[in-house]
Amino acid sequence: MDQAIPSSIQASVDNHPRAEKRHYSEVKKKKMTKQVEIKYTQLFIDNEFVDAVSGRKFPTLNPVNGNVIAEISEGDKADVDKAVNAAKQAFDRNSKWRQMDPYIRGQLMHKLADLITRDLNYIAALETLDNGKTYANAVEDIKASIACLRYYAGWCDKIQGSTIPTGDTNITLTRKEPVGVVGQIIPWNYPFMMAIWKWGPALTTGCTLVLKPAEQTPLSALYGAALTKEAGFPAGVINVIPGYGPTAGAAIAEHSEIQKVAFTGSTEVGHIIMAAAAKSNLKRVSLELGGKSPLVIFDDVDVKKAAEIAHDAIFSNHGQNCCAGSRTFVHSKIYDEFVKHAKQLALAKKVGDPFDSKTDQGPQIDQEMLDKIMDLINSGKKQGAVVETGGNRAGNTGYFVQPTVFSNVTDDMRIAKEEIFGPVQSILKFNTMAEVIERANRTNYGLASGVITKDINKALEFAQAVEAGSVWVNCYDAIAPQTPFGGFKQSGIGRDLGEESLKEYLEIKTISIKITKEN
Ligand code: NAI
Ligand code: MG
Repeated sequence: MDQAIPSSIQASVDNHPRAEKRHYSEVKKKKMTKQVEIKYTQLFIDNEFVDAVSGRKFPTLNPVNGNVIAEISEGDKADVDKAVNAAKQAFDRNSKWRQMDPYIRGQLMHKLADLITRDLNYIAALETLDNGKTYANAVEDIKASIACLRYYAGWCDKIQGSTIPTGDTNITLTRKEPVGVVGQIIPWNYPFMMAIWKWGPALTTGCTLVLKPAEQTPLSALYGAALTKEAGFPAGVINVIPGYGPTAGAAIAEHSEIQKVAFTGSTEVGHIIMAAAAKSNLKRVSLELGGKSPLVIFDDVDVKKAAEIAHDAIFSNHGQNCCAGSRTFVHSKIYDEFVKHAKQLALAKKVGDPFDSKTDQGPQIDQEMLDKIMDLINSGKKQGAVVETGGNRAGNTGYFVQPTVFSNVTDDMRIAKEEIFGPVQSILKFNTMAEVIERANRTNYGLASGVITKDINKALEFAQAVEAGSVWVNCYDAIAPQTPFGGFKQSGIGRDLGEESLKEYLEIKTISIKITKEN
C-alpha cells in the first residue's frame, strides 16, 4: 500500500500544530458585512456541482426579512439515485478510498479542517445569512466543527478489532468494517456543525455518504462540499443533495442501496425515517430527535448564577436547540427570587440584526417556526401561565420573537409538554427530590437534563434517576467532540459524537481460522 502523503496534505501537516488558532485571532479583527457572496447553489455529486435532473430550483430565504438569498437546485429521487451510484463506486473494494491507508484518510480530514479554518469568516457569514444566528455564534459553531473534524481525523487508524479465545485449534478475530453508503439528513439549527457531526464518523470509518441539508439552510454544506474536493477527497465519497424532506429526504430513507441513515430533526420525521428503513432494506438507523429537557435548580445555590445558567440553557441559539433546557424546575424556596433574575436576563437580551456585534438574538428560522412558537406562547397565556416578559413577536418583518419568560407554569400546560424550539422559558415550581424526578421523567422525550446544587448527593441522585442521554451538573450544554450525545426514549436511537458514534457506521466481521496441526 502506498504510504506517501500527497504533497498538498503534507504542507498542511507542516503547518500544524493548530493552524486554526492563527485564523481565530483574525476573525475578531475583521468586521463582518452582510455582503456575502454565494458561490455554490447546485447539487454536489461525484465531486462536481450539477443541476437537478428535473431542472427545478427552490429559494433559500433570509430570516431577517424573508427575502430570497439564492435559488438552489432542488434534489429529488433521480438525483439521490445519481449520488448513491457515485457513492457506491467510491466504496468499491478496489477504489482509491477503500485502498487508502487510514492514516492518509485522517490527513485528508485534517486538510479539510485546515480549509474550514482558512475560510472560517466566510462560512460563519454564510451561516448567519442563511440561518439568522448571530455572527459570533456562527463563528463558535464553525470552531466547534473544526474541533469535531480533527477529533474524528485522529480515529481513522485506531479502529481496532480483537482476537477472541476459541481454543487452540482456531484463531478468531474481528474486523470493524465500514457499513457502506450512508445517507444523512440534517436540520437547519446548526447547519454546518450538523453536517460535520455526521461527516466526521462516516469518513473516519471509511464510509461514503449522501447528505441532505435542511431546505432552509443549504448554503454552508454546499460550501463545505467544495472544500472536500479542494482537500483531495476522491470523487463520490461525499455528495450533497439539497432539497425537501418528503422528496429528497424520503428518497434517501427509502433507498435500497443505502446501508445506514443518520437523521437529526423532529420526532415526527424520525418515525417516518424508521418506517422507511423497515419497508425498504432494513438499513441501520440512528436518530437524534427532539426534547423537553428538565433543568432542576435546588435551593442551596447562588440564585443569580443559577438563573444565568438556566437562561443560556434555553435562550442559546434562539431556543432552536434540541437539548434546550426548556423545563426550568425551581425549588419553591427560591422561586420568586429566581423568576426576578430570569426576567432581568431576558429583558436585557438585544434582539436584532445578527450581523450586528451588539445583537444577542437574531430571527427564528422561518414563518412556520414563528407561527409554531407564537401558537405555543398564546397557549401558555390562555392556560394561565404568567408572562413575566416578552410574549409577542418582535417587529413586523422577518421572524423575530421577544425573549419570553413564563412563571407559574404547571405540568399540564402545552408549554411544559411540547417542544417550543424558540426563545421561551417555562419556569415550574417543585418541593422535593422524589417529586421533581418523577415530573422530570414524565415525558416521552429523554435527550438532556441538568441539575444545579452544591450538594453532591442531590446531584448524583438526580443524575442517576433522570431518563436522559446527557446530565449536566452545575453547567449546561457541556458538549465536546469526545462526549457521546443522544437520547433516551423518543429523543432518539444511537449516539452522535465520541467513540460511540463510530459504532453507528461500522459492521463487525468475525473471522475464524482453523489451525491444522502438522504432526
Ligand atoms: P423536520 O424533522 O421536518 O426536518 C429535519 C430534516 O428532515 C430536514 O432536512 C427535512 O428536510 C427532513 N425531512 C422532513 N420530512 C422528511 C421526510 N418525510 N423524510 C425524510 N426527511 C425529511 O423538522 P422541522 O420541520 O424543520 O422542525 C419541526 C420541529 O422539529 C421543530 O419545531 C423542532 O421541535 C424539531 N426539530 C428538532 C431538531 C433537533 O435538533 N433535534 C432540529 C430541527 C427541528
Ligand atoms: Mg418538517
